[in-house]
Amino acid sequence: MDKFVIRGGNPLVGVIRVSGAKNSALPCMAAAILTEDEVTLENIPQVRDIETERKLLQSMGAEVGLREGEAQDRTTICCRNLSDPVARYEIVKTMRASSLVLGPLIARTGMARVAMPGGCAIGGRPIDLHIRGLEKMGATITQEHGYLEARADRLRGAHLVFDKITVTGTEDLLMAAVLAEGETLMEKCAREPEVTDLAALLTAMGAQIEGAGTSTIRVQGVSRLHGARHSINPDRIEAGTFLVAGAITGGDLVVSNCNPTHLGAVIAKLREAGAIVDVLGPDEVRVRSGGPLRAADISTEEYPGFPTDMQAQYMALATQAEGVSMVRENIFENRFMHVQELVRMGANIKVDGSVATVRGPARLSAAAVMCSDLRASASLVLGALVADGESILDRVYHMDRGYERIEEKLRGVGAQIRRLGNLFPPREDE
Ligand code: EPZ
Repeated sequence: MDKFVIRGGNPLVGVIRVSGAKNSALPCMAAAILTEDEVTLENIPQVRDIETERKLLQSMGAEVGLREGEAQDRTTICCRNLSDPVARYEIVKTMRASSLVLGPLIARTGMARVAMPGGCAIGGRPIDLHIRGLEKMGATITQEHGYLEARADRLRGAHLVFDKITVTGTEDLLMAAVLAEGETLMEKCAREPEVTDLAALLTAMGAQIEGAGTSTIRVQGVSRLHGARHSINPDRIEAGTFLVAGAITGGDLVVSNCNPTHLGAVIAKLREAGAIVDVLGPDEVRVRSGGPLRAADISTEEYPGFPTDMQAQYMALATQAEGVSMVRENIFENRFMHVQELVRMGANIKVDGSVATVRGPARLSAAAVMCSDLRASASLVLGALVADGESILDRVYHMDRGYERIEEKLRGVGAQIRRLGNLFPPREDE
């Protein structure tokens, strides 16, 4: 298993480029199931979850790949021959976002067999809201042997009101609705930019959608969709992670190829914590040290509130801020896996239920730490960038799921970070 070695102490200075958003690319790739024509997606991040989704679509009979000579960040998907509409457990267990193929498969083929996505480090991750919505649209869904079996002659438009705001639930049911018979009204939808990005692709494919990005989405079903070409949104969480990296190291960092309008809550919070953050243009944000960092509380919320996917990264910053920062995690039930590892580096953090109390500034010292999930990994990288000495981060495959070439990008702005492949074969107990 790959490791990172990081020597802390260098302020990050220069320009760091953001890749396409993994959480936009995943639903947009699934949307290709809805048509027999080719769908070409650009600005796709080269990360593990994308590779997993490519394998998933290919396992169903789709042709997925790069055209000869095409840029690495482009992928063309053709689902003309969906010979085997099954999402197998071997693939789903490595990436639970596979539930995103459920709606499109039923809408396109009238059937789907999708392994139930297990939970993950951050929570149980149920998909009951996806299932309930599809049943309201006329699907018959049974569960056996760990698989969901879904059938529908043709989905019917329905009035759907989500009990809880769910990002992939909104995306899954939006993809089901675009080919359903009649009108679908969806209320209490997720407003994340990833939903809006998916709706832009679906509209380019011929879907009739109003209200994407608001909590009420209205869809007029159509009989078929055609191919399209679409460029994926920049990754707002990667951008936010880099802004925190510039602030925590006291550097002067320009984050390029991002979308500042998706970063409102993060930029406001970094300013409150004492960083100088300037929006330089439609795709660039600059972060600089504004003197000692100050404690500031966060409470994670659905978009446009402070993102749960930035909670762990912000907590690393809070360990260096003067005062007491309260970090409240409202979305997932177990998203403090980074806390104990930051404490091992010297952070002063106490957890009580869904609230972590962070006292700073705490001098961090390098340590051997363990990555547990995608964003916790990012938090440990940020801690190691300011810790005294050389930290070793194990199980960085968690980070590779959602951050493209992260060590190259950070090294490019002055970080002392190296990736260590397997020096020796893993021991039995590893
Ligand atoms: C998406 O996950 C993202 N993943 C997550 O990013 C992100 O943390 C999350 O949205 C919240 O913003 C992708 O887009 C691939 P939810 P999703 O459904 O859709 C509960 C990352 O780090 N819920 O919005 O699975 C659920 O348990 C990942 O990139 C139900 O109860 O999250 C949670 O408490 C991690 N029943 C809350 O809703 C359901 O049917 C929000 O979950 C669905 C969700």
